[in-house]
Amino acid sequence: MEPITFLAVLLALLQSPVTAGPQTNLLNRGCSQYNASNPSSFVADLNATFSGLRSNLSASHSAVFATASRPVYALFQCRDYLSSSDCLACFSTAAALLLSSCAPANGARVIYDGCMLRYESAAFFDQGSLIGNVGLCGNRTNRTAGFAADVDGLMMDLSVATPRISGYFAAAVRDGVYGVAQCVESVTEETCGSCLAVAYGNINGCPPNAEARAVDAGCFMRYSDEAFFPTNQTVDLAPFLNSGSSSKTGAIIGGVVGGVGVLLLLALAILLWIKKFRKSPNRRKGNILGATELQGPKNFRYRDLKAATENFNDKNKLGEGGFGDVYKGTLKNGTIVAVKRLAITKASRVQVQIVGPLIGNKGLISLLAWLEDLHIYIRSSMCVSYIEI
Ligand SMILES: *[C@@H]1O[C@H](CO)[C@@H](O)[C@H](O)[C@H]1NC(C)=O
Ligand SMILES: *[C@@H]1O[C@H](CO)[C@@H](O)[C@H](O)[C@H]1NC(C)=O
Ligand SMILES: *[C@@H]1O[C@H](CO)[C@@H](O)[C@H](O)[C@H]1NC(C)=O
Ligand SMILES: *[C@@H]1O[C@H](CO)[C@@H](O)[C@H](O)[C@H]1NC(C)=O
Ligand SMILES: *[C@@H]1O[C@H](CO)[C@@H](O)[C@H](O)[C@H]1NC(C)=O
Ligand SMILES: *[C@@H]1O[C@H](CO)[C@@H](O)[C@H](O)[C@H]1NC(C)=O
Repeated sequence: MEPITFLAVLLALLQSPVTAGPQTNLLNRGCSQYNASNPSSFVADLNATFSGLRSNLSASHSAVFATASRPVYALFQCRDYLSSSDCLACFSTAAALLLSSCAPANGARVIYDGCMLRYESAAFFDQGSLIGNVGLCGNRTNRTAGFAADVDGLMMDLSVATPRISGYFAAAVRDGVYGVAQCVESVTEETCGSCLAVAYGNINGCPPNAEARAVDAGCFMRYSDEAFFPTNQTVDLAPFLNSGSSSKTGAIIGGVVGGVGVLLLLALAILLWIKKFRKSPNRRKGNILGATELQGPKNFRYRDLKAATENFNDKNKLGEGGFGDVYKGTLKNGTIVAVKRLAITKASRVQVQIVGPLIGNKGLISLLAWLEDLHIYIRSSMCVSYIEI
């Protein structure tokens, strides 16, 4: 390339607008494996629900969030930095995809860079983190010294500050790292904090990858070394970092055990899972984030999980996976659960996940099989930009 041409291209790149458009880069899609009992009326109801959501969104120029409870439960959210026309365009893309590729499934969701849309036949607006949450590391790397630490610092602060910010959205730039965090507006501050702590845990192992996203049912995080939102939309996080007690961020952050730095706790209780799982073995081939009929997550304190597993005693170990060991635990109410202890990238960080209730030996065996699948899933999806659908 001629030097002049090269310079022109470089200048064009530098001057191109920071971000524009509805950002419909697909990150995740999941359809329930159950169809509505009356498919044709359900599809019409869903279409009517989407039309209602759309008119409510377009009625307000600043709306980035909308829910509907009739005829179908639905929730839509844009990243706050999208213009209202881009937000509507993202909605249209999402609604068309779910109508064409999931309906008459009785639940589904789609997550793009710019927005997310989910519908169910029962209320779900209070849900934060669900099984299937995942971090998607980009495939470009950035070897700048200190990049990983800068990403880590910004994402940590975003996960703590965002639940305390009205609207549960924050965009920030620090040391050349761009980051956003967002929760759906219908969750509590505590649920938002727990969800973002999971999201943070899902992407803090991504650097030196130059960008990553964390997707979940109730929250979203993303960082990049390149701007992906208009830089006049940032917020000063400092006022939100020290206010309130650490317990405000819920059972997640603040699980300081042993003074070895930050301890992340992730706890998901999957009720009814085994029952459904045993009835229909191919459920485990389901979509990620596809457990649409499950109850909302329950949070546990690290010390309760530690007690339940007798301090992760070897005698309670059910199995070892490439991604972490699984222990049998007995909760205070007598429920027997499997607890997966994930060894995450940094030695000072431990992530714990309750993976489900155990019912008898058969349940145990099925669950371990499912766990193994999950491990494979996570391992194979940790470092890809997109999830295949
Ligand atoms: C759900 O409905 C779709 C479209 O009518 C059909 O292709 C699919 O097999 C159905 N799935 C189940 C589990 O019944
Ligand atoms: C949804 O409703 C619109 C009219 O509001 C109609 O044009 C469209 O065909 C419907 N789509 C489906 C999938 O029923
Ligand atoms: C639209 O907004 C109105 C007023 O907030 C609300 O009553 C209605 O249920 C909403 N409709 C949908 C489909 O979201
Ligand atoms: C990185 O990901 C993008 C988007 O999926 C793809 O187009 C590109 O080919 C990938 N690059 C490499 C080196 O894998
Ligand atoms: C790597 O990240 C730094 C911010 O830490 C940024 O300033 C730099 O432009 C990035 N390098 C490349 C090659 O993108
Ligand atoms: C950000 O800048 C764009 C133009 O660059 C402008 O249209 C927009 O109103 C600004 N937003 C805020 C919140 O200042």
